[in-house]
Amino acid sequence: MTQTLTIRRPDDWHLHLRDGAMLNAVLPHSAAHFARAIIMPNLVPPVVTAAQAGAYRDRILAARPAGSDFEPLMTLYLTEDTDPDDVAQAHASGLIKAVKLYPAGATTNSASGVANFDKVRAVLDKMADIGLPLCVHGEVTDSDVDIFDREAVFIDRVLDPIRKSTPGLRVVMEHITTKDAVDYARAQDDSLGATITTHHLVINRNHILAGGIKPHYYCLPVAKRETHRLALRAAATSGEARFFLGTDSAPHTDANKLLPCGCAGCFTAPNTMAILAQVFDEDSALARLEGFTSLHGPAFYRLPVNNGTLTLQKTPCTYPPQIDTPDGPVTVFDPGFAVQWSVA
Ligand code: DOR
Ligand code: ZN
Repeated sequence: MTQTLTIRRPDDWHLHLRDGAMLNAVLPHSAAHFARAIIMPNLVPPVVTAAQAGAYRDRILAARPAGSDFEPLMTLYLTEDTDPDDVAQAHASGLIKAVKLYPAGATTNSASGVANFDKVRAVLDKMADIGLPLCVHGEVTDSDVDIFDREAVFIDRVLDPIRKSTPGLRVVMEHITTKDAVDYARAQDDSLGATITTHHLVINRNHILAGGIKPHYYCLPVAKRETHRLALRAAATSGEARFFLGTDSAPHTDANKLLPCGCAGCFTAPNTMAILAQVFDEDSALARLEGFTSLHGPAFYRLPVNNGTLTLQKTPCTYPPQIDTPDGPVTVFDPGFAVQWSVA
């Protein structure tokens, strides 16, 4: 008999949907499996104001496949000019569920991010008052810091000081990639959560660089050495409520990935749940998959869990190597092994 696993419908607590033709092409892949997702605001130009977030939300809702009840959970992109009252109103109206901090220059479309943290102090204080989470891309951008150390250095130089100077601020350490981040998260109270991507549970830096460069495995934060991947895997499968899924599924066309200076991002929306089932099965943790994908995130965000269910079955997963978009093909994340679980 085929082994099956039924879990509450999962949510994706970190997702890039883009806009326009790309939005229309990628949204159905997330909406097929996930009930809700925290939507990243790093469009060009970024989603900075409540009015922009409302308009982007309407475009996402309009792009849903017929019959889909997928719910986009909107975020605002924090800049040094962000108005605390605009943030508070967007939160009070239910429009936004978080504010996103990109250190200026850290990653794709982060040029409008924060360079001087003193300039966002009033916004952070307001967020602490109203309990609105700050989603953090945790990498320093200093050119003299090695790219493999940028997350660990960010924790010491930026994250910990921000949390100490803004008591009560609720923070999500996003797409953590190091044992340092796992250890830091574990040492904090429940005002801190951490998301982990599917691809960082599967690849280490050798997958990117050994035996030829693999642009489709390049993302930010960049995958680290194997000891870090194992620490992430232990955290994700541990059942600890502070760790939950944020896929960081980040579509770029192949033309933009396969360049002398290619874009960062792995597109995992189509096969994320199947790969996760396999990862948790391999680690004898299938009973804890539901917590990671469907329970811990809502608890952190103080939202109800979803009503529906998703059933996974242990049968080989088929997914296209690429999806077609009007902008060109987008390669689907290849975990490097045959995926033995699939969404029923
Ligand atoms: O790999 C990434 N891609 N990391 C990010 O932080 C941004 C994202 C994107 O927007 O493409
Ligand atoms: Zn991201």
